Amino acid sequence: MRLLIYGVLFGSILVLLLSLVHLRSSCHNVLPSQVTDLHSLQTLLHEWEIQWGDTPDVASFSRVSDQLAKAIAALNRPQLPPILPPPPASASADVRAAAERVGFKALAVAGTQCHVMHDTDLWAQPVVWGGTHRTANAADCCAACAAHAATAARGGLEHGTNSSACNTWVFCGDEARCGGAFGECWLKHTDKLPPSQRPGAAGSSPWVSGVVYPGDGWLAPYESRTTLTMHFKLGDIVVRLLPELAPRSVVELRRLAALVAGEGGGCGGCRVYRVETAFLVQGVIGHPGAYVATPRHPNPPQKRVMERGLVCWAGGAGGPDWFVNLIDQAGFGDDHLCWGKVDDMALFDAIVARPIKPKAKPNEMTFLAEELRFNITLS
Ligand SMILES: *[C@@H]1O[C@H](CO)[C@@H](O)[C@H](O)[C@H]1NC(C)=O
Ligand SMILES: *[C@@H]1O[C@H](CO)[C@@H](O)[C@H](O)[C@H]1NC(C)=O
Repeated sequence: MRLLIYGVLFGSILVLLLSLVHLRSSCHNVLPSQVTDLHSLQTLLHEWEIQWGDTPDVASFSRVSDQLAKAIAALNRPQLPPILPPPPASASADVRAAAERVGFKALAVAGTQCHVMHDTDLWAQPVVWGGTHRTANAADCCAACAAHAATAARGGLEHGTNSSACNTWVFCGDEARCGGAFGECWLKHTDKLPPSQRPGAAGSSPWVSGVVYPGDGWLAPYESRTTLTMHFKLGDIVVRLLPELAPRSVVELRRLAALVAGEGGGCGGCRVYRVETAFLVQGVIGHPGAYVATPRHPNPPQKRVMERGLVCWAGGAGGPDWFVNLIDQAGFGDDHLCWGKVDDMALFDAIVARPIKPKAKPNEMTFLAEELRFNITLS
């Protein structure tokens, strides 16, 4: 089939050339005896162009030559359509950036972390080539990588589940600097995560890259972190995490903190809303895309005395509502799963003294007149 196309193409170009040569035979009647293939034909066209550079209809030769080059390129390219069309040139950079942010957010909420690295061209084995695989933005490229990995996990790739799954994506989104590579989305695989940067690419690359870790691999750097800091407008409260009492809750809290950090913003649902003098301060910890909900059992046995400063899930549940104990209390047994300890309680003591909402009956729960938001970091 390809031979046939070459043949037809070659034949029609030769006919075109011969008629041109015939028209000009008064000055040149060299027949292209040295033309044996498309490449030598192109070379000949260039020679003629140089010879007749001072005549205006030389443009015909350039056009023929350009068409020829395009036809050759098209024949040599695999005929796969791109998964998504390249971004419309009319969309402004701002509009594209906004769409990208929404995309990353949607992926995070759905559980896919993209681990975006700007000015970075990550070095790994390509599994899908960017020249024929363009996406509208980096978030779509990350999504494509996640989808590729999901296909691999279903056993759908030629080389088995682990060998060729995408875990690294590389996208070119800087229209001015990417040139012909604008919109290219490369899906790559490396056995050793995280991958390293392409040598010499650091800091100057129009590419943006990221990693899609299988499972919870991306949480590995957080495993040794045991300090959760709650950042209030009023100041910081430091909570020591207690994996020995609530291992699963600590994993979920690390995931929450890592996700919030990855988005570079604040915690969407972290707030303190209830205070009971000489008893507790209560709040909720959560963020769109990260929901701390851990099974109450099995977990290690809890402390016999719930000490002042111990942070536990409220209502005998597994999150996301928590309280911090203001006094040592005994008699709760294993009712509350505790996951942290605050050593410096000064700020919580100050929060208990803040204005409260009016109560209809004295034994109702006490709510803060103004809820206090907080952000979180993990160190
Ligand atoms: C893929 O990798 C996982 C984790 O390293 C491993 O448990 C699993 O056995 C591997 N599967 C195959 C088919 O090699
Ligand atoms: C939390 O972080 C967000 C985003 O940086 C910020 O706008 C907000 O004021 C912060 N909230 C607190 C209580 O520090």
